[in-house]
Amino acid sequence: MQIERARAVLAGGCDSPVRSAWGVGGPMFLQADARGAYAYDEAGRRYIDYVMAYGPLLFGHSHPALVAGLDALAAGGFVWGATHPEEIRLAERIRAYLPSMERLRFVTTGTEAMMSAVRVARAFTGRSVILKFAGGYHGHFDLALFDAGASAGVGGARSGIPEGVRRDVVVARYDDLASVDERVARTSDQLAAIVVEPIAGNMGLVVPGAGFLEGLHERARRWGALLIFDEVITWLRFGLRGAQGRANMLPDLTALGKIMGGGVPIAAFGGREDVMAVLAPEGAAFTGGTHGGNPFCIAMAHRVLDLLETHPEYYATMRAVAERLARGIRTLFSERGLTYAVVQQESIVDFKFRAGPAGRNFDDARAADNGAYAAYYRAMLGRGVLLPPSQNEVMFVSSAHTAQDVDETLAAMRSYFCGTSHDSNAKS
Ligand SMILES: Cc1ncc(COP(=O)(O)O)c(C=O)c1O
Repeated sequence: MQIERARAVLAGGCDSPVRSAWGVGGPMFLQADARGAYAYDEAGRRYIDYVMAYGPLLFGHSHPALVAGLDALAAGGFVWGATHPEEIRLAERIRAYLPSMERLRFVTTGTEAMMSAVRVARAFTGRSVILKFAGGYHGHFDLALFDAGASAGVGGARSGIPEGVRRDVVVARYDDLASVDERVARTSDQLAAIVVEPIAGNMGLVVPGAGFLEGLHERARRWGALLIFDEVITWLRFGLRGAQGRANMLPDLTALGKIMGGGVPIAAFGGREDVMAVLAPEGAAFTGGTHGGNPFCIAMAHRVLDLLETHPEYYATMRAVAERLARGIRTLFSERGLTYAVVQQESIVDFKFRAGPAGRNFDDARAADNGAYAAYYRAMLGRGVLLPPSQNEVMFVSSAHTAQDVDETLAAMRSYFCGTSHDSNAKS
């Protein structure tokens, strides 16, 4: 009934296609409420939520430190249209953790952050070609959608993009420098930037092998192009220094988003001082926005950093819960003779319905059995566990998830996998 109402007024019944559950053939989950690690439907039924709004909710839904005293926060209004001290302070705090972001600018979404970073790279280099990776997702601006992962990888992402955009996009295989060299061979002198998720989270979870990111950096230098890290998922999920801190690297430009607002929309892009100087009013490239740096979202981002600084133990707690989940899934699979690789990094857990070692790229992700995932997704929903309705996505654990939530999840998985036979290619 609500689904019909949604379809009658919202395009496709949703604001973002993944929510329609098209990746698993439905049903679309209609959410009525949320608390901590749980989502609730209209009937008040509780679901252990591993979607976590596709990443932002590092502390689960409605952490008291984020939702307390919002009236006072709103007292001065939500948006000012002027630079303000708390915005400056937030930029300084971010730069202290991510020194590569010598100058930065606040925007509203990850899409906007990546789109702006690409504009800056093109303005700085005076070139237009962008190298990206199949299965990476950088938002829904034109060039980002070629061979994109996440829900754009399900299909239907090609229409509405001018044909000319294709000329300026080169797509390579993730974690494969030979593919980069091969794809860029004829265009290296026109290359403006290499854009990459330093740890991929939109074709399942893929941690690139040793030397991949460094190899990209070296090639960018050699070709006179810039290296852009899309840390929209990884910053704060992989610690306060993000994936670049973990890799000990300084990309030329970085995009941030999702987690930094604790659920409210705020994102940022930034990088080398000389590169960011292309932006007006200093330079001739333009980005801007009514809501960029608004005091409400800036204050929420401060709260997120405050919370992480006062609770450094959160990372270890989340990791322990995620490890428990991954361990339990591995045990279950090995008992059932299923050779699906379970990947866990920090608070992210992922597996695909695909036999053999963990996926390295989008070809591997596409080889997974979607029918098997769809049946599993529906069965888990029926057992009170909310999973992402697409196999390109991953399971996010938050500081609100407990060992008990994990054990409940594993019991639901056990009841499903022990009561169902699975595709024969999964047997070892
Ligand atoms: C790595 C990455 N970059 C960019 C984006 C786009 O962010 P937004 O949905 O806020 O526009 C996403 C969203 O999932 C993402 O995962």
